[in-house]
Amino acid sequence: MDNRLDGRVALVTGSSRGIGAGIAVELARQGAAVAVHGRDRGAVDDVVATLARDGGTAVGVSGDVTSFAELEALRRQVEEGLGPVDVLVANAGGNFTPPAQLEDIPEDCWRATIDGNLTATFLTLKSFLPGMKERGRGSIVTIASSAGRRPDARAPIPYGAAKAAIALLTQDAAAQAGPFGVRVNCIAPETILTERNRARIPGEQQAAMAGYHPLRRLGTPEDVAKAAAFLASDDAAWITGVVLDVTGGAVMM
Ligand SMILES: NC(=O)c1ccc[n+]([C@@H]2O[C@H](COP(=O)([O-])OP(=O)(O)OC[C@H]3O[C@@H](n4cnc5c(N)ncnc54)[C@H](OP(=O)(O)O)[C@@H]3O)[C@@H](O)[C@H]2O)c1
Repeated sequence: MDNRLDGRVALVTGSSRGIGAGIAVELARQGAAVAVHGRDRGAVDDVVATLARDGGTAVGVSGDVTSFAELEALRRQVEEGLGPVDVLVANAGGNFTPPAQLEDIPEDCWRATIDGNLTATFLTLKSFLPGMKERGRGSIVTIASSAGRRPDARAPIPYGAAKAAIALLTQDAAAQAGPFGVRVNCIAPETILTERNRARIPGEQQAAMAGYHPLRRLGTPEDVAKAAAFLASDDAAWITGVVLDVTGGAVMM
C-alpha cells in the first residue's frame, strides 16, 4: 500500500463499474477514504465491499449527476459519512449517441450526450467547488476523451464536442480556483478495456485498434486510475489546468 493519499476523502462519480471503479480501487489503495457512486445501488455496494475487503474505508452513494439537487444531496451524504471531500473525480458520463453523419444525429441523442457529460461535469464542479475554495484545499480530476481532442469521423460528434468542452471547463475552473489552493485537471483517455468494452468490441477489432497505438495495446482502467491518483496527490502540487492524454501515444499534443 502506497500512502500518498492517507487522510484524504475522495468521491469518484460513476465508480459503480468501469474506469470509475478502477479509480476508486487505486485511490483507496493509496490511502484515501473513498465514496463510491452510481445509480445502480447493487453495483455500488459490490465496489464498496471490494474496497472494504482490501482494508480500505468506503461508503456508497447514489444519485443522477445530471440533477443538481441530487448532487447536492449526495455531497451532504459523503460529508456526513466520511467528511468534506478533498479529492473529486468527476468521471460519470458516456456516449449516448450511435455513430452517424451529423445530419442524421437525432436531437434527443445530442441533448442526452451533452447533458450526461458536459452538464453533469459542470453541475458536479458547481456542487463541490465552493466547499473546497472555502477550506483552501482540494484536487479535482475531470474525465474527457480522446474523442474530444481531435476530429475523428468514427466518433459520434455530440460525445466529442461534450468532451472537448469538459477540457475547457476544467481549465477555466483551474484558473478560478487556483488562488484558493484548489487544483483542477483533466484526463482524456483513448479506448479503455472496461468490462463493457471487452464484451462489446470483438477481439479481432481490439487487435486492429491496438495497432493504431504506438504502445500497441488498448488501455485499462488501471492506466487511467494511476494517472488520476497522481493528479489527485501532492506529487502534482504544481500542476493545474492540464489535459493529460492517457492514450498509449494515440494522441500526442
Ligand atoms: N471506456 C472508454 O473507452 C472511455 C474512453 C474515454 C473516456 N471515457 C469516459 O470515462 C468515463 C467512464 O467511462 P466507462 O467506460 O467506465 O463507463 P461505464 O462503464 O459505462 O460506467 C459509467 C459510470 O458512470 C455512471 N453514470 C453514467 N451516467 C450517470 C448519471 N447520469 N448519473 C449517475 N451516474 C452515472 C454509471 O453509473 P450506473 O451504471 O451505476 O448508473 C457508471 O458507474 C466516462 O466519462 C466516459 O465518457 C471512457
